[in-house]
Amino acid sequence: TTEPGTKADAFAPSNIALCKYWGKRDVELNLPINASLSISLGELGSHTTLSESDRGQDQVYLNNELLSLDSPFARKVIGFIDLFRRDLKQPVQVRTVNNIPTAAGLASSASGFAALTLAIDKFYRFDLALDHLSAFARMGSGSASRSLYQGFVEWHKGSREDGMDSCAERLALEWPGFRIGLLKVATGEKKVDSRSGMQRTVESAALYSAWPQQAANDLVAIKRAIQQQDLECLGQTAEQNALSMHATMIASWPPLLYWQPESVAAMHRVWELRASGVPVYLTMDAGPNLKLLFQHADEMQVRDAFPELVDADIVAPFG
Ligand code: PMV
Repeated sequence: TTEPGTKADAFAPSNIALCKYWGKRDVELNLPINASLSISLGELGSHTTLSESDRGQDQVYLNNELLSLDSPFARKVIGFIDLFRRDLKQPVQVRTVNNIPTAAGLASSASGFAALTLAIDKFYRFDLALDHLSAFARMGSGSASRSLYQGFVEWHKGSREDGMDSCAERLALEWPGFRIGLLKVATGEKKVDSRSGMQRTVESAALYSAWPQQAANDLVAIKRAIQQQDLECLGQTAEQNALSMHATMIASWPPLLYWQPESVAAMHRVWELRASGVPVYLTMDAGPNLKLLFQHADEMQVRDAFPELVDADIVAPFG
């Protein structure tokens, strides 16, 4: 129980998977079919504040705007809090502010659920260990399990039925020169969310049967590449991993293609730049935008080739 007036603040970074999570073995608990590995985006993410509501009902704010409790976002947030609050009659106010440049077109569910999990832990004074919080954040959104940590993070698929070992862990690896470019190429187009996208792929794509083994191999190769700070090996494996995931989506029925014409055009620009000798690689998630992987030493050439990348779109995960 909390004392009146208690307020809890938390922050969690957004993350980009280098080895993707695609497919659930348990839909209720959000248990993944494969392990994944990501890089967190430092100061880019979600700030969440949880406090008691003085309005006699729950209140959910997103980017300082009060939402209807019937909106999909508010329902998800309140549904998640309900998993933890013992007294369902104690209404709360939740405020989430995302500082991810809207121009980057990044999803914010990972950082949002991770920050909310941390805020819940503080507000209700659970004082749980980070790996447990990671497992709880996973139930809000799988990729949120990885946003509990900065740096390179591995989400173990786990084997327990209750899912408590399906949590993420920060890898003791740093790469100060590593850079991510958030390249927004298309807007609009209401997309299929990752939950239904995964379900469709797992149920209808024959190609999906090859995915779990490839992801397991890629994860090992990516970890080794990070240890050796080998951008070519990391980039090649991460790019092939992302495109293989997209291949399983395209092979679903009905087909699931997150790419827009602008996405494909940008992919060709990345490949041309690479052919000209600049080590730059791409990865993509359940949307039309690209994330570029490169090193600080090549930043000028990447900026020249992609003038639409402004300062805020280039992330240095290790400061
Ligand atoms: O956990 P979700 O619903 O955010 O799904 C994440 C799916 C991908 O972004 C495509 C891959 C990943 O590992 O982040």
